[in-house]
Amino acid sequence: MTTPAELVSTDLTPAELAHLKRLLASWSVLADLSFSDLLLVVPTPEVPGEEPELVVMGQIRPNNRPTMLTQDLVGQTVPRTSWSLSAAALERGEVVRGAVHHPLVGESVPVENVPVRFGDKVIAVMVRVYSRIVATPVSMYEKNYFEVFGRLVEMIVAGEFPFAQEDVGTQETPRVGDGFVLCDGEGRIVFASPNAINALHRMGVYSTPEGHTLTELGVESSAVQWALATCHPVVEEVERRPDVIVLVQCVPLLEQRVANGAMILMRDVTDVRRLDRLLLSKDAAIREVHHRVKNNLQTISSLLSLQARRLGSEEGRAALREAERRIRSIAVVHEILSRDPSDQVPFDEIVSSLVRMAEDSVVSPGSVEVTVEGDLGEVTADTATPLAVALAEILQNAAEHAFPAASGGAPGDAGAGSGAPTGHVRVTLAHGGRGLEISVRDDGRGIDPGFDISRTTSLGLSIVRDLVVSQLGGSIAVGAVAGGGTLVEIRLPPPR
Ligand SMILES: Nc1ncnc2c1ncn2[C@@H]1O[C@H](COP(=O)(O)OP(=O)(O)O)[C@@H](O)[C@H]1O
Ligand SMILES: [Mg+2]
Repeated sequence: MTTPAELVSTDLTPAELAHLKRLLASWSVLADLSFSDLLLVVPTPEVPGEEPELVVMGQIRPNNRPTMLTQDLVGQTVPRTSWSLSAAALERGEVVRGAVHHPLVGESVPVENVPVRFGDKVIAVMVRVYSRIVATPVSMYEKNYFEVFGRLVEMIVAGEFPFAQEDVGTQETPRVGDGFVLCDGEGRIVFASPNAINALHRMGVYSTPEGHTLTELGVESSAVQWALATCHPVVEEVERRPDVIVLVQCVPLLEQRVANGAMILMRDVTDVRRLDRLLLSKDAAIREVHHRVKNNLQTISSLLSLQARRLGSEEGRAALREAERRIRSIAVVHEILSRDPSDQVPFDEIVSSLVRMAEDSVVSPGSVEVTVEGDLGEVTADTATPLAVALAEILQNAAEHAFPAASGGAPGDAGAGSGAPTGHVRVTLAHGGRGLEISVRDDGRGIDPGFDISRTTSLGLSIVRDLVVSQLGGSIAVGAVAGGGTLVEIRLPPPR
C-alpha cells in the first residue's frame, strides 16, 4: 500500500522510511496525550548548489481538542529559514521549543520540535503545534497525559520510539480517550483515567486501582509484565466474565533501554466482538446455503440421469443428459462458494472442474487432452455462474463434436489405451484492463464454415450466446481456423 509518506520524495533509506512509517502508524496516541496537532517534517533530497528544505511528510490532529491546523500540509515544502526551529532541532538533535506566528489564530502559538532519531542519525522532526490554553495542565489526567507524552518524546529523541517491530498499525489498538492507565516500573498503577476506571468496572474491578498491579486487581492479563520484561509493546484481549472483552495495549516507557514505567490503553470491545461473531455466523450461514444449493442441484442432476436411463428414445436420453450436465456446471460454482462465501470466486478452480467434466464425457478416456493457460483471477459470483455454464457448453462441444473418433462416432478408432491423445483443446484465459478474455481452441475437424453464432438455433451455442451477450454484456466469436479446428472467443467488458 502506498501511503502519503511514500509520495514525499526524500533521501531517506528504506530502513529510515520504515521507522518514520512506524511513527506515523502510532502517533495518534502522541497527538491525544499532548492535545496537539503534530507534523512530521523531513529534509528534501540534496541538490548540489541548493539549500535543502523541509517537506511535511505527515500530519495528525488530536481527537480530544480542536485542531490548530485546518489545512492539509502534507507534501508542502517549506524553506528551512522560515521553519528555523525545526531546522535547529534537526541539526542539533535536541528538542527546540519556541513560538511561531499563527496566521489564523492571529497571534503566536507555542511549538515544540522533537528530533526523530534512527540509529545515530536524526532523520526527521516531529513538530507539535498547540494552543496556549492546553499548555498548562489543570486536571490530574492532563498532568499524567503530559507526563507520558514527555517520556515518549525523550524516547523519540533517543531513537527508542517508535518500537522496532513489524506490523505496528495493522493491529487495531485502543486510543488514549478509551481509557488510559500509567504504571510504574513494577507495573503498579499510578493513575487511571475515568474511562479506564469504567473499563475496569466492566471487568468487575471496583477497588481503587492506584497502587496495585492489574493482576492484583484480578484482571487476568500478562500484558504489563510482558511489556516491562521485553521492552516491547503488547496488545492483548482480556476476557472477563462470559461477555466482557477489553482490548489492552501496554506500551513500555523506556529510559536508556530500561523500562521504568508503562502506559496502558484499554477499550471495551465487547460490542465490536459481538458484531464480529454475528458476522462470522452470517458467513457460516451463507456457506451453508451455498452448500445446500449445491446438494440440491446434484440431486436434480442425479434424478435426470436416472430418468435418462429409463427412456427408450435416444433423443430424449441425450436431452436429459445435457440438462443434467448443465445443472452440474452450475453446481460447480456453488461448491466453490460454499467453501468461501465471498463475492469473488477464483475462476481457475471452476475451470479445472469444468475441464474434468468435459474430459470425463469423452467416450475414449485419454484421447482428448485439455490444457489451460493463464487465469481470470477473481470473478464476481454474478458473473461466475453464467460464465461457467457457457464455458462448460463450449468444452463439451469440443469433446463431443471436434473429434468424432474420440467421442465414439467411429467405434474402434483412436480408442482407450492407444497412447498419446489424438485431440487437443487449449483454453486460454486472460484478465486485465480490457476485461476478461476466454478462448477455447481445438485441433479437431472444425466447425461448419457457414456457421453463424448470431443466427444459430442449435440449443447449446444459443445458450452460450444469450449468456455472454445478453446476460454478461460481452461478445462471442465462433469459427473454423485455418489449418483445422475450431476457435471460440469470448470477451467480457471490465466490471463497472
Ligand atoms: N468444437 C467444435 N468442433 C466441430 N463442430 C462443432 C464444435 N462446436 C460446435 N460444433 C458444431 O456446432 C453445432 C452446434 O453446437 P451446439 O449448439 O452446442 O449444439 P449441440 O452440441 O447440441 O449439437 C454442433 O452440432 C456441431 O456440429
Ligand atoms: Mg453442444
